[in-house]
Amino acid sequence: MELCGSSSTATAFSWSNSISSTLHFTPQPFLVYGCSRNSRIRCLSDSSPSQKKAEQMIVSVTGATGFIGKRLVRRLHEDNHYVRVLTRSKSNAQAIFPAKEFPRIVIAGESEWKDLIQGSTGVVNLAGNPISTRWSPEIKKEIKQSRIRVTSKVVDSINDSTNEVRPKVLISATAVGYYGTSDTQVFDENSPSGNDYLAEVCREWEGTALKVHQDVRLALIRIGIVLGKDGGALAKMIPLFMMFAGGPLGSGKQWFSWIHVDDLVNLIYEALSNPSYKGIINGTAPNPVKLGELCEQLGSVLGRPSWLPVPDIALKAVLGEGSSVVLEGQKVLPTKAKELGFPFKYIYVKDALKAIMT
Ligand SMILES: NC(=O)c1ccc[n+]([C@@H]2O[C@H](COP(=O)([O-])OP(=O)(O)OC[C@H]3O[C@@H](n4cnc5c(N)ncnc54)[C@H](OP(=O)(O)O)[C@@H]3O)[C@@H](O)[C@H]2O)c1
Repeated sequence: MELCGSSSTATAFSWSNSISSTLHFTPQPFLVYGCSRNSRIRCLSDSSPSQKKAEQMIVSVTGATGFIGKRLVRRLHEDNHYVRVLTRSKSNAQAIFPAKEFPRIVIAGESEWKDLIQGSTGVVNLAGNPISTRWSPEIKKEIKQSRIRVTSKVVDSINDSTNEVRPKVLISATAVGYYGTSDTQVFDENSPSGNDYLAEVCREWEGTALKVHQDVRLALIRIGIVLGKDGGALAKMIPLFMMFAGGPLGSGKQWFSWIHVDDLVNLIYEALSNPSYKGIINGTAPNPVKLGELCEQLGSVLGRPSWLPVPDIALKAVLGEGSSVVLEGQKVLPTKAKELGFPFKYIYVKDALKAIMT
């Protein structure tokens, strides 16, 4: 549906029938161009000229309450898009995204996901049981099954849609763990998968997303270690650095393929609207570092000397077996993102850490 100069005013989401009454949602007046119920609307807010140029999206997000999801939802909301938070816990999501602050967000429990996925412009699939924990056999099963379960649910909801309400794009998370670990190899999107447990999780996770309807553009983002202040591995590592005065983790020779959370959010955002973003895309910064260098830079940014090694055991204590993500790394390059001309804001880890810490 193309934008046009019509100015017929309608109440957007008059189509959202019972859902809007059960979910916290404030219908607002919009200029709607030929939008029918649950169609992929390109609606324009009539509040400012710049907004008039933007194509408004309806984006459903699983894992929206997590470290990456929260940033993505906030970003989409700030840009006047409509976000549908697909969660297991509405009360938790409502506390994170209060209706007053986030009027264009709909929060939906699992029984409502399908209705909201259908009619979305795009879906971002981030959900999964945390990896940075102790890995009992039960947790290992849940790490894999949670990702497959949620991805299947998303894919089935998309595939059950009629053409009219089928989302155009699915952005599904996966991880650089797909490649396995190595101190010497360099991996890009064409590299084969590894042989360890996380590689197996990623293969099955991606395989589930690949079942999506052929008319849906699928981007699988193999995410590296995401750096941000309020979550992910870094938030857990910083107190250790403070305690041990900084220093290498393990041997320090392992590769650490990082990405600043803002760059990852921008990559997902771009993939939602840019048809060139499809297939496998590594979500890592252009300059992975050895863990020793990361520690040195972190020590320098935190103003701590970097000579006292943080013992593996301390890291394992806070990250559980999930510490393997940090202690056994891989060098992963964002070849596809660079080909696509994605403008990374943080190319060097030092700049990323400085931005996060200040
Ligand atoms: N952070 C990183 O460095 C990194 C690196 C590589 C890949 N990734 C992947 O990117 C995705 C998002 O990462 P994140 O760091 O934002 O994750 P996160 O903070 O742990 O959040 C994940 C979200 O998934 C949902 N979830 C948690 N356990 C679940 C379960 N057992 N079953 C179904 N849903 C569950 C939760 O949402 P609700 O409670 O609202 O349902 C949670 O907010 C994850 O799949 C992760 O594996 C992250």
